[in-house]
Amino acid sequence: MTEPIRINRSTTRKPKPKDADLGFGQIFTDHMFLADFQEEKGWYDPRVEPYGPLSLDPATAVLHYAQAIFDGLKAFRGVDGKIRLFRPQKHVERMNNSARRLCIPPLDPELALQSLVSVVGVDRDWVPSTVGTSLYIRPTIIASEAFLGVRPAKSYIYFVILSPVGAYYPEGMAPVKILVVDKYVRAVDGGLGGAKTSGNYAASLFASDEAKHAGFTQVLWLDGVHRKYLDEVGTMNIMVKIGDEIITPPLTGTILPGVTRDSALALMRKWGLKVSERQVSIDEVVEAHGRGKLEEVWGTGTAAVISPVGELAYQGKKMVINGGKIGPLTQRLYDAIVAIQYGKAPDPDGWTLAI
Ligand code: COI
Repeated sequence: MTEPIRINRSTTRKPKPKDADLGFGQIFTDHMFLADFQEEKGWYDPRVEPYGPLSLDPATAVLHYAQAIFDGLKAFRGVDGKIRLFRPQKHVERMNNSARRLCIPPLDPELALQSLVSVVGVDRDWVPSTVGTSLYIRPTIIASEAFLGVRPAKSYIYFVILSPVGAYYPEGMAPVKILVVDKYVRAVDGGLGGAKTSGNYAASLFASDEAKHAGFTQVLWLDGVHRKYLDEVGTMNIMVKIGDEIITPPLTGTILPGVTRDSALALMRKWGLKVSERQVSIDEVVEAHGRGKLEEVWGTGTAAVISPVGELAYQGKKMVINGGKIGPLTQRLYDAIVAIQYGKAPDPDGWTLAI
């Protein structure tokens, strides 16, 4: 698609929230990006429109069979006033990989990048400025054909919406209590775990609800085959530090290839730390805790960046990590990533795109 992006500005403006009042994903900006796909035309009519509801036929495929994918990234207002997207090309690549897995036609990567740049550019006044706040960007593709047969749809809608956000968890960058579940799983080998698709999140709700009722912030998922190896923590990738070794599960198809995961691994390798992408069993974690070697545990994700785990509960046993406090490496990673995002530190690998 080589069509230029049409821009149709809203004639009204919504009131903007104060940075201090921002939660996650509750407020949306004045505009959205849209494009349509039809089999005979490909992707067409890329445009920025006033934010508003989509009108869908009740038979629309996505409402029945969940043929949908999304991604999530952020724009930051730097200390120098510049607005930067964090690793947008990597997010576009992941979005297209998710799309292919769901039989959704991928977007031209250049158009996808321009969609993010154009809509954030139009709503640039919505990017909050306090460190810890940002503009969350949610590109999404849904199957829009009104048809109830089970097969890939012939038409799709791509949209990008924007939401000014603060911390993902109400507790902020504070250690969370996590319940290790072996009764439910989020992904199986050969399944959809590696794609950012809506159904994965629907499938996670029941277990995380049970965990919340039991007083935990989230669950730690184990692998779907042995119910033994660490998979993800809530909606985030997981990392554990056992002695000198930092371990995170490998990308074998069940794990979402997190962009923050990739960034954290790159930084730690640069710092000369021993980083392993390998399977780690819950028994190894319990055993390391028993020896006093389970030094730090944290989750990585776009929404929360780095989320320290202060406590893990498994089969009725409670493991407190680093006295329930943020560990030094967890803090170092958070500070290093945030410094790049807000333009406070050099960006040697070109992770940010100023717009
Ligand atoms: C993340 O960015 O960590 C997520 O995947 C959470 C998002 C689904 C709200």
